[in-house]
This record gives sequence, structure tokens and C-alpha cells, in this order.
Amino acid sequence: MTSDELRSKYIEFFKSNGHAHIQGKSLIPENDPTVLFTTAGMHPLVPYLLGEEHPAGLRLVNYQKCIRTGDIDSVGDDSHLTFFEMLGNWSLGDYFKEGAITMSFEFLTSPKWLGIPVEKLGVTVFEGDENAPRDDESAAVWRSLGIPENRISYLPKEDNWWGPAGTTGPCGPDSEMFYYVGDKPCGNDCKPGCACGKWLEIWNDVFMQYNKTADGKYEPLSRKCVDTGMGIERTVTILNGKKSVYDTEIFAPIIAAVQTVTGYAYGAGAVASGASENDKSVRVMCDHIRASVFILGDPKAVSPSNVGAGYVLRRLIRRAVRHGRKLAAGKDAPANAGLLLSPVAAVIIERFKGPYPELLDNKAFIMEELDKEERKFLETLQKGEHEFEKILPNLLKDPRKIMSGRLAFKLYDTYGFPIELTGELAAEHGMTINREEFDEAYKKHQELSRAGSEQVFKGGLQDHSEIATKYHTATHLLHKALKLVLGDHAAQKGSNITAERLRFDFSHGAPMTPQEIQDVQAVVNEQIQKMLPVTMEIMDIEAAKAAGAVALFGEKYESQVKVYRIGQSSSCFCAELCGGPHVEHTGVLGKFTIQKEQSSSAGVRRIRAVLE
Ligand code: ALA
Repeated sequence: MTSDELRSKYIEFFKSNGHAHIQGKSLIPENDPTVLFTTAGMHPLVPYLLGEEHPAGLRLVNYQKCIRTGDIDSVGDDSHLTFFEMLGNWSLGDYFKEGAITMSFEFLTSPKWLGIPVEKLGVTVFEGDENAPRDDESAAVWRSLGIPENRISYLPKEDNWWGPAGTTGPCGPDSEMFYYVGDKPCGNDCKPGCACGKWLEIWNDVFMQYNKTADGKYEPLSRKCVDTGMGIERTVTILNGKKSVYDTEIFAPIIAAVQTVTGYAYGAGAVASGASENDKSVRVMCDHIRASVFILGDPKAVSPSNVGAGYVLRRLIRRAVRHGRKLAAGKDAPANAGLLLSPVAAVIIERFKGPYPELLDNKAFIMEELDKEERKFLETLQKGEHEFEKILPNLLKDPRKIMSGRLAFKLYDTYGFPIELTGELAAEHGMTINREEFDEAYKKHQELSRAGSEQVFKGGLQDHSEIATKYHTATHLLHKALKLVLGDHAAQKGSNITAERLRFDFSHGAPMTPQEIQDVQAVVNEQIQKMLPVTMEIMDIEAAKAAGAVALFGEKYESQVKVYRIGQSSSCFCAELCGGPHVEHTGVLGKFTIQKEQSSSAGVRRIRAVLE
């Protein structure tokens, strides 16, 4: 089964079970300072899991592009990827455990859908703790469908609970489905979840029952929801009996493109224990270039930079270049004459333009940004070489001919100079590197950056606290006030809310004058004082636009949308397409103050404002 077939079958199955097919959302979340990228299909749906009404109804299905970079150092082994696609179905207060499990079972086992023999399946359920009881209900449903008791494992929170790690948000026990790839269990205790490596997880049904609050309490949700997730790459690998995600048709054309640009033959140097170091480099290139193409091809694309999502993108691109240059070294390969990422990107765009047409729409931008960043990195590498030449005379004075590991790490850290390259240059002058010292410095650096990235990536989900909701409503008022004071061109380019402030980017060619800032502030405060009601209506997208509701450029919308109006509907102050949540009336917002107005990028200004 190909990935395209799996994607279509999944959507078709759930549509035939009354689910609305909704669009996947951007890889870069709006209004969410806690994560840099969308990490699961449920991420853009958090407001609805917490009780907001979804315009498409109570049963939803989609495929969502996701990025997780917490394990970036493991990419290149058989299973890790930074970018992946997730299939998901949701019940917003409609069916719960029995409905979700029955549908999962039918999709997995029916010959019409995936046709997996029941005896190949096993499941895990939550064993229970002080927050929630043992999930006997899910186990009973699995048993009634024909999964024998010895293929049902009861596991603790670490395994069978899903929700935001360490922060607030919707969460609950989950039930995971496994495919057995061995011929016989490894022993009497061999059950799903066993570490023998023969049980491979293919799907996760999460039963969202609680909202974890900031003080660590689990409050029951007003309505129980279901969130499920099936990783496309992983499932295709398993269904086709492959050992690695990179052995699937998903990656075949990308691997071929990497071979062409680098001149390296993938698989030729396979070693008994798995992929060789060079084969792993090919895989890293495939993964990293694919992730970069999807980030740059997103309607909310970021460019490589030194902060946030832009920094992750820069790291992905530079790592890909580094591995590529290593593979091409000494070969008569196209990479040695030109740039190596964009030719691979062109193949990736072609491969995924069907389900993700935005890649084709943004092709010129993707190619341009990749070339620009690759050139910049090559310059950096040259500077590193120059730096090496400068310190060389001093190095040569060392009678032991050992280059300090700390110095090698500095070259790596400051100039992005690969240790392998430093090693080669050192060897040319009869020197070796104190590798132990380098490894130590590298490990320390990795621990620090991992601690940082875990905070961001595992992070949490959107902040739906009362104060964040207030800022959300204030953002709509600000958007409209800017249009009134500056003109209709002042359109939203970005928005970011924390519990302390709102930040709003909008198009405008010049700094705002003090008078303009004061006027915008006054318009917003006037609406707050009027205590205007905030109302929501579900409308047809075209009707909503025709009625003058503001839509965000580049955002994908469903055919049915939610329109939030501030003010009496006949003469409202503003109307915007938005998922919510919002306050009930503007009177609760307090005083609105603009603290800062500055440039964000060419033609885009940024406002920071607070409610007091
Ligand atoms: N949100 C759940 C997951 O990512 C389904 O596993």
C-alpha cells in the first residue's frame, strides 16, 4: 500500500462514518507561543477539544503536516523523522471509547480497508492511577471485537496517557494499537509494549476527558472528546513489511535525487548492523530537505534566521548541506559544481504537490531561500577554513601535534565547521584532534540545547486561560482600529499571545506617528468602554466574506466558518473569521495600552500591547 492510498482510504473510511473532511492547518501555529511547530493533528484543534463549537460539526477527519525535532540527532536510523504526516479523526463530544475503538478496529481489519489479520494485532490501555481509573471500558470493547486478553497490556501514564507534557490543556488515557512482526512471542510475558522490538505501534486513540490546569489538577472536560493519530510514514513501512521508513516509496525518489547530486551510491556500503554512516547521511539529507521544503512552502513560511522556527529551519538546511558535502567529497558530483539542496527540493515538491498544493504555489520561494541559505553556509565554511589557517602557526608549535578539542568545538559552534573537516585539515598538517575533549564540549552543548528545545517542542498547547482569551479579543479590536486609522492595507501578518501581552504584525510601509498610535489606542479603548457583546455565527465562507468579515490572507478555511462579531450584529465594530475563543463582551478587557511599535520586516510593523 502506498502512502497516497493510505491517506485516501483513511479519509474515505471516516467520511463514510459521518466525519467531515477538514483541511490540515499550517505547520507554524498562530497565537501559540508554546510551540514552534504543529506537532500533532490535534494541535490546531485544541480550542474545539476544550469546548468551542467547530463549524464542520462533531466528527472530523484530516491529514496534518507535523514537525517534531526533539529527536533530531536520531534522524538517520530506521524510524526517526523530523517532518511527518499524521492522519487523525476526532469526536467533539459525539462518540467516545466504544465508537472510536470499533471504528479503529474496522479500519485496521476489514478487507475493504487495511485488511490486517486480527491475530497480528495487540493493544495497550491505561492501567490507572490517582488521577484516573484503570481503563477497563476500553479493554472490554477490544475483547468484544476479538482481541484476546493476552494481547491487551495495561500500562502506566508514561505509555498510555496523551496530552501536553508538563503544561495545561486537554488530555486523557489512550489506547494504542500495535502490529506484531515476529513469528512467535519472545516469551510468556511478551505482550504489546514489550521491549523485544516486535510490537510496532501504528495508531493511538486518545480519550480526552480532562483539562490539566496550571496547578497540576485534572478537571473533567465539559464534553468528552476523542483524538486519534496515525503516522503515515510509519504505518506504510509496517504494512509493506519494510524495516525502515526510508525503504518505502515515500522516500525512493528523494533518495535517488540525493544520489544524483552527491554521486554517492546509497545502500552499496551497507554494513551488517544496518545502515552505514554514509547511508545515514543520505537519510538525514532526505529528511531535513523534506522538512525544510514543507516549512518554506507553508502559507505562514518563515525564512532561515537565528531565532525560533527560523533557527530550526537554518539548522535543518545546514545539517543537510554538511552531510551532502561529506558524501560528495572527492567525487565528480554535480554538488561539487553547484548547490545541492534545491535539485532535491524540486523532486520533493513534485512528489508531494498532490496532497499539498501549496508546495507548488510557493516553489520559487522555496528554491530561492534554499539556495540563499546554502550559499551563506558555504561562505561560513570558507571563513572557518580561513580561521583555521590563522591559528595554524600556533598549533604547529605544539610538539605533541595535538589540537585542543575545545578549539575544534569553537570552530564547530561559531563557524558551523564540521569536526570531520577540522580533522582532515589537522591531518594535512600532521596533527590530531583531542577528540575526547571535543566530545565532552559537544555533549554539554547538546544537553543544553536539548533542554531548551524540549521546553519548546514537547512544550504545551495553546494557552486558553482567561487572560489569553482577553488578549485574543483585544487583537480583533486592534486589527480593526489599525485599518480605521491607517487604512485598509493594515492587514494582519502575524499574531502571538502570551499571558503577559499581545504582539501583532501588520502590513504598513512606515513607522506609525505618535498621534497614530494614540488614535489606535483610543479607538480600542472606546470599544472596551462601550461593553460591546462578542457573538459567533457559523456561516458559509463565501457569505461570510461577502458580508465583509475579515479573513487572513494565505489561511486555508473550511466551507463553513465561524465568524466572530464585536458589537451589535446590525452595526458591529468588526467581524473576523476566527476559531475563537473570545470573551463575551469587551467590558472585561480592562485598559489597552500600546507599549511598543517597531519594524518587524520589510513593509511589516509590529505592535506590543498590554491589557491592565
Ligand atoms: N495526539 C495523539 C498523538 O499524537 C493522537 O499520538
